[in-house]
Amino acid sequence: MNAPSQLHYDVIILGAGAAGLMCAIEAGKRERRVVVLDRAEKIGKKILISGGGRCNFTNLHTTPANFLSENPHFCKSALARYTPSDFIALVEKHNIPYHEKTLGQLFCDRSARDIVHLLETECTAAGVRIVTNSLVQEVRRADEFIVIADSAEYRAPALVVATGGLSIPKIGATSLGYDIARQFGLNIIEPSPALVPFTFNDEDSATYSDLTGLSADVIASCNGAHFREKMLITHRGLSGPSILQISSYWRSGETITLDLAPAQDVTSALRAHPAGRNESSLKSEFRKVLAQRLADRWVERHLPKSWTNHALEDLERQAHAWKIVPAGTEGFEKAEVTAGGVDTNELSAKTMESRKVAGLYFIGEVVDVTGHLGGFNFQWAWASGYSAGQAI
Ligand code: FDA
Repeated sequence: MNAPSQLHYDVIILGAGAAGLMCAIEAGKRERRVVVLDRAEKIGKKILISGGGRCNFTNLHTTPANFLSENPHFCKSALARYTPSDFIALVEKHNIPYHEKTLGQLFCDRSARDIVHLLETECTAAGVRIVTNSLVQEVRRADEFIVIADSAEYRAPALVVATGGLSIPKIGATSLGYDIARQFGLNIIEPSPALVPFTFNDEDSATYSDLTGLSADVIASCNGAHFREKMLITHRGLSGPSILQISSYWRSGETITLDLAPAQDVTSALRAHPAGRNESSLKSEFRKVLAQRLADRWVERHLPKSWTNHALEDLERQAHAWKIVPAGTEGFEKAEVTAGGVDTNELSAKTMESRKVAGLYFIGEVVDVTGHLGGFNFQWAWASGYSAGQAI
């Protein structure tokens, strides 16, 4: 067997996803000799499957409040340094047609491939070398970083870890980033699946799972967070944007609260008329705000003990605060992102460099910064990648 060749660069970037490629472009533009290593056979695989294949590449209304982290202030510096307008300018430079779908979410008109092509073109222009099919076996540090991959042995004074989180293992997610952080003595906030569907407990499963496919406009709440968007009933539990959003705030065993009729008074007509109060008229009122089968099922499960105004008011309150205790989530297999990651206390908010290990950087999803649904996770990847790329 031939000894692997040694290759010397100014910076080695692990991971050719959104964050790693943005970092490579910026460092390359600054004349750094950059190599990006990725185990996959092609770059940007997660970008390609994002946004239903159209990549929700940013959100016009990005603010630090759209991100979860043990330190909510950490993301501010990078987000201010590289804004949605900066990425939009790049998209427009490449003549990529895009549109706002809803709530500031920008999507490609054609395909997520346009974004990968943009990044690849910019990398080429910046002289970046990308090596795919390059599984990293070992990282060491002597006078500089040594990365042993199956393709070659790479050396550089700077190492950027952009290997993402644990979500969707079937397209190549690994724990490499966390392993490297631990190897160098950096603290990790326990990674957990986020933006992920819930599974029903046994009782709710028996009651509601045959309603698969029905949706409702709800406000989902947990631990002080609230999201008003669609909820979808699946054969295993609950999904849809409001549920994915609130899942990032939920911890095992906790209750989520669902307002099934935001800003509406479902039982007001019945409360106003003492005559004709019965199960059938109650269902009729709920059918005005919910899909018929969901309205009927929910009413059957929450029939008031009497038909007094007091009992109807109590039912009204329950409809605005339906308590669900999920059995769990669908896990990393279905999670859009990973919450937790490299503790932000370990990193410079300006450069993403480790405070303990000079020359070691962490960017993107591997860091304990998790965006809401709606283009925020890519904006974090661009912004953190840009910040490191400017500093290396
Ligand atoms: P990312 O995961 O993109 O890249 C990491 C790279 O490291 C991968 O290419 C991987 O192969 C490589 N790697 C991992 N381990 C390695 C190893 N051991 N050796 C070598 N290479 C290794 N966000 C958003 O803002 N808008 C959206 O529309 C969507 N949609 C969406 C859909 C789906 C289905 C998912 C799963 C996720 C989204 N997201 C999203 C989230 C978004 O895709 C995610 O936050 C970013 O891609 C994270 O970018 P990173 O570059 O940090 O990691």
